[in-house]
Amino acid sequence: MKQQIERLRIERLGHRGDGIAETAEGPVYVPYSLPGETVEVERKGDRAEIVSIVEPSPDRVEPICPHFGTCGGCAVQHWREENYRAWKRDLAVTALAQAGVEAAVDDLIDAHGEGRRRAVLHAKRGGRKVLVVGFTGRRSHIVVPIDQCPIFAPPLDRALAIAWRLAEPLEPGGKPLDLHFTATDGGLDVDIRGSGPVEPDVAAALAAVAREERLARVTRHGELVAQLTEPFLKIGKATVVPPPGTFLQPTAAGEKALADLVLEAVGNARRIADLFSGIGTFALRLAENAQVLAVDSDEEAIAALNKAKGAPGLRPIETVTRDLFRSPLTAGELVPSKVVVLDPPRQGAEAQTKELAISGATRIVYVSCNPGTFARDARILVDNGWKSGRIVPVDQFRYSDHVELVGVFDR
Ligand SMILES: C[S@@+](CC[C@H](N)C(=O)[O-])C[C@H]1O[C@@H](n2cnc3c(N)ncnc32)[C@H](O)[C@@H]1O
Repeated sequence: MKQQIERLRIERLGHRGDGIAETAEGPVYVPYSLPGETVEVERKGDRAEIVSIVEPSPDRVEPICPHFGTCGGCAVQHWREENYRAWKRDLAVTALAQAGVEAAVDDLIDAHGEGRRRAVLHAKRGGRKVLVVGFTGRRSHIVVPIDQCPIFAPPLDRALAIAWRLAEPLEPGGKPLDLHFTATDGGLDVDIRGSGPVEPDVAAALAAVAREERLARVTRHGELVAQLTEPFLKIGKATVVPPPGTFLQPTAAGEKALADLVLEAVGNARRIADLFSGIGTFALRLAENAQVLAVDSDEEAIAALNKAKGAPGLRPIETVTRDLFRSPLTAGELVPSKVVVLDPPRQGAEAQTKELAISGATRIVYVSCNPGTFARDARILVDNGWKSGRIVPVDQFRYSDHVELVGVFDR
């Protein structure tokens, strides 16, 4: 049956980066359209695909990547930088307003720097068993083949070619392999997920690729397959060996921007709690001036931090492995720390924030990768008498719908 073509006027860009048209039946989401545009679309429910742009926005620009529009890695490459930046900042403004939190949001800090230093590529056998390597499409699980990604940092220049070479001997079937690439200061670290146990001949083939491509380490689900050198990251005065596939801020510039904001906000505090510390991105820097309590649920990340924390020039870091969703630090346990830094995953830290709100802390520095959960948790603080100070949006995920925030709360 032939699809009906409809003409829509786009009013605004939503928080996922889709253009939104208001219709009698409610909002319709049109990916890759821009506010002010008139587009002809094929509609499926409340989503629509552009068939043609009848009246383009004067702010439409040429995307920097030939795969934009099919590869789901980027949502907004086609908008003038000023508009893009204002939209990103507005993601924070809107989330706070919706949660009823009054706060001043700074201008967006651009933290793309040299580009992404970590990426998860997917590999799959497509039609006629041809190997396909790329990212998934927008809101889909289909692997879209790509031959370049202009947002990668230079150490990932060969990531696509390497992903190909690693995937070949693993013979991915219907289910895609996930290849987690991290550019460390000691070379590329690749953790492969989604494959079954690796037979000796396959392990030998992977090790050969590691040698030829000079990869620091290759693991499968965290198990060592090949290691040429130790992958490491310099964090302040310390050197950390990251566990395979561990969390790392996606750009070096982003890590620096967030760390600078955190260090500025903690001032001269002598005892600081760093909750959701990971491998110690903030804790190891904070320990240059303060005694730190670092807590995270990831045992391996805490083990890596324990190995790194003895670096000369650092004050003591006490570490705790604990699930802060199920078992948040209580107000009582938080007593020695007047200043608390927290950097939870996208779900935010509702239970922990409730304890923080009634604790004896006087300053909270909340780093977030999700304005929605940040605003929800900020509301808990404000309802308990905390005052929201500066909120700074940081753009590490350029061209995506993700934005980080650093918010300071005082009592
Ligand atoms: C956004 S990362 C931040 C890590 C670190 N602050 C950094 O900048 O590298 C979130 C961290 O929360 C940890 N995490 C996730 N769920 C958790 C939970 N329920 N309890 C404690 N930590 C958790 C993850 O292991 C991860 O290290």
